[in-house]
Amino acid sequence: MAKRVEIVIVDDNLELLESLELYFREKGYAVATAANGEAGLALIKTRKPEVAIVDLRLPGMGGLELLQALRVEEIDCRTIVITAYQDMETTVQAIKFGAFDYLHKPIDIDLLDAVIDKALSDIPETEAIKVVDEEFKENTIVGRSHELKEIFKIIGLLSEVKTTVLIVGESGTGKELVARAIHYHSSSSGEPFIALNCSAIVENLLESELFGHEQGSFTGAISTKKGKFEIAGSGTLFLDEISELPIHLQAKLLRFMQEKEFERVGGNRKIKFNARIVAATNRDLSQMVKRGEFREDLYFRLKVFEIDIPPLRKRKEDIPLLVEYLVKKINRTTGKKIRRIPMAAIDRFLEHDWPGNIRELENVLTRAVVLSKDDCLHEDCVVSLLRQPQSVPPPASFQLQSLSEIEAQHIVQVLEHCQWNISQAARILGITRPTLRSKIKSLNLSS
Ligand SMILES: Nc1ncnc2c1ncn2[C@@H]1O[C@H](COP(=O)(O)OP(=O)(O)OP(=O)(O)O)[C@@H](O)[C@H]1O
Ligand SMILES: [Mg+2]
Repeated sequence: MAKRVEIVIVDDNLELLESLELYFREKGYAVATAANGEAGLALIKTRKPEVAIVDLRLPGMGGLELLQALRVEEIDCRTIVITAYQDMETTVQAIKFGAFDYLHKPIDIDLLDAVIDKALSDIPETEAIKVVDEEFKENTIVGRSHELKEIFKIIGLLSEVKTTVLIVGESGTGKELVARAIHYHSSSSGEPFIALNCSAIVENLLESELFGHEQGSFTGAISTKKGKFEIAGSGTLFLDEISELPIHLQAKLLRFMQEKEFERVGGNRKIKFNARIVAATNRDLSQMVKRGEFREDLYFRLKVFEIDIPPLRKRKEDIPLLVEYLVKKINRTTGKKIRRIPMAAIDRFLEHDWPGNIRELENVLTRAVVLSKDDCLHEDCVVSLLRQPQSVPPPASFQLQSLSEIEAQHIVQVLEHCQWNISQAARILGITRPTLRSKIKSLNLSS
């Protein structure tokens, strides 16, 4: 016969203790009870139950202390805290100390049952990805799709030749990560990697930011300052969001790339530039060139070598590995210890389209890890997080329209739905017939 599931109940209210004991015994569980914290801890340590139900306010060692002790001794038992306290602080504390769930008194027995079922719904290891923290290496590009393997090869090739590289890809696809990989795999990996976001700098300071300036060259230039080009030495200069570089600076950048030397603002000494330029963009530069927003000659200079990182939805086979890797990363930063990711949760990740790419995946995982109460990333938690709208930029179809334009469109749609039956349309729109008639007139609507 299989081992009976064991529950330990710790509460100083003897009446409640007894009734819970009876209730769970009748349901077929093996039950042991204790009326104070110390005895409860000892019981949990010796019996190693699957689940413990622990009251928060106990004589002597309290429920929170008990939770802490279980954590310190790494005792693997799902603990459900029950208490009369309703405040946020204790709830947060209890969850922080590793409680599986938190229920308020008076106890709703159906709810308690449901929580215990959830605590016991163990997922067999073969159906889950096991997360082993020891294998974590920072700044690795993870994936096994054909597309990514091609990128790995290119990074290898670029380690030998110091050409300019243009990385294109949607937001969050890993452009900066690839830029860093190019740098750290090259023979100049000991030299600086300098990143400059072309969209985040005040325009009239960009020039001095790039080329540096001599003391007194403009108001505020109190001392001589080296620019990013100079600091990069013979390492890598990463020009992020290159599409946002103002057009007059595009001309300067081009000239500089041709001459491979520059002067500080207000200076006259030529300084040699030996670094590799890696530029990145999430915009279509060729379209910008057609519209006259980006210099064609600079575009060709930059795309000596182009790396196109496909969006995550086009390489979904990378998702399982990415999830495993990112959970390790998040375990490190949050101090949580997620050890298992059920295949059912992975399936949910595979169904999603990830408009925000790997950054969005990382955000969702971070929330899932923070919300998890045990060492497993449960499917239902993933489902509810994926249902929430993510903070991604509005879709390309989004148009900046006035309210009256939208109002007119909406009224026409409703009217067409009702085949221009004014009474019916007015009812749906929640306005009177005369109001609808006057709107049709003022907005100049017709079938
Ligand atoms: N293949 C990958 N393996 C592991 N982590 C990745 C991978 N791709 C991206 N990431 C991670 O996803 C996040 C976003 O990547 P990154 O900042 O490089 O994207 P980006 O393309 O530069 O985005 P944006 O256009 O928004 O600046 C980072 O935390 C990065 O480490
Ligand atoms: Mg970036």
